[in-house]
This record gives sequence, structure tokens and C-alpha cells, in this order.
Amino acid sequence: MTATVIDGKAFAAKVRGKVAEHVARLKSEHGITPGLAVVLVGEDPASQVYVRSKGKQTVEVGMNSYEHRFDADISETELLETIRQLNNDPDVHGILVQLPLPKHLNEDLVINSIDPAKDVDGFHISNVGLLGTGQKSMVPCTPLGCLMMLRDHHGSLSGMDAVVIGRSNIVGKPMAQLLLGDSCTVTIAHSRTKDLAGVVRRADIVVAAVGRPEMVPGDWIKPGATVIDVGINRVDKPEGGTRLVGDCQFDSCAAVAGAITPVPGGVGPMTIACLLANTVTACCRANG
Ligand code: GUN
Repeated sequence: MTATVIDGKAFAAKVRGKVAEHVARLKSEHGITPGLAVVLVGEDPASQVYVRSKGKQTVEVGMNSYEHRFDADISETELLETIRQLNNDPDVHGILVQLPLPKHLNEDLVINSIDPAKDVDGFHISNVGLLGTGQKSMVPCTPLGCLMMLRDHHGSLSGMDAVVIGRSNIVGKPMAQLLLGDSCTVTIAHSRTKDLAGVVRRADIVVAAVGRPEMVPGDWIKPGATVIDVGINRVDKPEGGTRLVGDCQFDSCAAVAGAITPVPGGVGPMTIACLLANTVTACCRANG
């Protein structure tokens, strides 16, 4: 293996440390404790794990954590009323509605009912527009974490060829906007892209965010390129049990790449660290 393995776990711990220092200062100098409200609808096991982890880490950095759990059959009216109350609560600086929502709820309507200033996920249409036009916004946590690792590794990204595989609103599209903002030449590839291998081979930076286990083999990677693997896929092991893998074949990609994020321990831990950082940012903006 030749690639440097980017340690997202250690990086995230550093980010959380800085957040904790900032929170302590807000408390001692201004008497303010940032608060993050997380809304979970239904019993999706993966969502429950994420929400528990978010709540735990929020408290660990000294912030207030508010959890609102609802049965899967909650009405849209009741959910919107909860968000209205959180929007008006001065102790709540960040609001996150865990996705996906049950099918009978209009996800766009729900997300767009969050006060954009409290939208720490950066999913509200106003924040999407602000990011797209290069204005100050709330930036989605996973792409923000990827950008921080890329900047840390490379310094400037200016002029680099970046390929983002995946066009989701949560990762692919905002990731492309952030890379463009850092003056990369950006291609968004997706399931209909012709000659995906050829497109990826041109890239100095590959961000894989498709949710397909080990889809990207090492021979798609340009020697020395940086590979950011956003995928977290649980697959069966031949001997029984399961293991987590990314969207990239780690061993073959690491053999050619200059740097690569592992799964687990790469992008994953950075997402919650960035959520905490966004909550502090929202709190500071709310308090001038
Ligand atoms: N579900 C999967 N990823 C995310 C995320 O980043 N934010 C929210 N709210 N839901 C998610």
C-alpha cells in the first residue's frame, strides 16, 4: 500500500475539541449554551444509532441536546407544529430532522419549514441557494467534513480535477459546490455517466458517494489521487456476520492513490463533528 490513510477519527476528535473550547467560552463569557434539537420519526435502526450518537456527542462538547421522537404515523401537521415551536425556542440554535422520513410525510415541506438560520444540516432551500451562489450559508455536514480533510491534506485545492460520484442533495451536489468554491474543476458523475472509469481516471480528487459497496476499483484511480470514500455499506462476510465497507475497494485503491479515507474511521466521524461545529456557528450568528 502506498497511500496515506487519512484518519477521520483523529481529525474529528480535534474538531470536537475546538468546538468544546468554543462552547466553554460562550458559556463563561456570554452565559450562552448552544442547543441542538434532533427530530426522529419512526424506528429506522440506522437512524436510531445516528441520533443516539449525535445526542451523546452534543452533550460531550458541553452543548444542550434536545431529542424529539415520534411514532412513524405522526401527522405532517403535528411534525410541522413541533418544528414551529423549535424555530421559536431561543434555547434551540440548531434543528435537525433525521432523514429519511416515512413516505406519507413531504420531506421537502418539512425541511423547508425549519428556520434557515437553525438549519444545521444545510438542507433548507435558502441554504442550498446561498451555497450555490457562494454566499454565507449553513453547509451540509458530510461534504463539509470531506472538504476539511481535503484542505488539511492538500492545503490549496485550486486547479485540481475533482470527480464526485453521486448526485444526492445531501452529499453529491453540495460537495460539488464546495469543490467549485475552492476552484477545482468539478465533474459530477452518476448512474447514467458514460465511461465512468475513464471519467474517474482523470481525477486528482475522487469523492465516492453512491452507497454501492466497493463499486470503485483501484484501476479507476489515477496514481497519486486523493480518494474520499463517503459510502458506509454493511455487507455479509462469507464466514458469517457483517462488516462495513465503503463505495471504494480499499486495498486496490490504496495501492495507487496518494491518500485515501478508510471505512469506518474516515468521513463518518467528521459528519457529526461538523454538525456540532455548525450548531456553534448558528448560535454565534443568532447572538450577533
Ligand atoms: N440521514 C442520512 N444522513 C443524514 C444527514 O446528514 N442529516 C439528516 N438530517 N439525515 C440524514
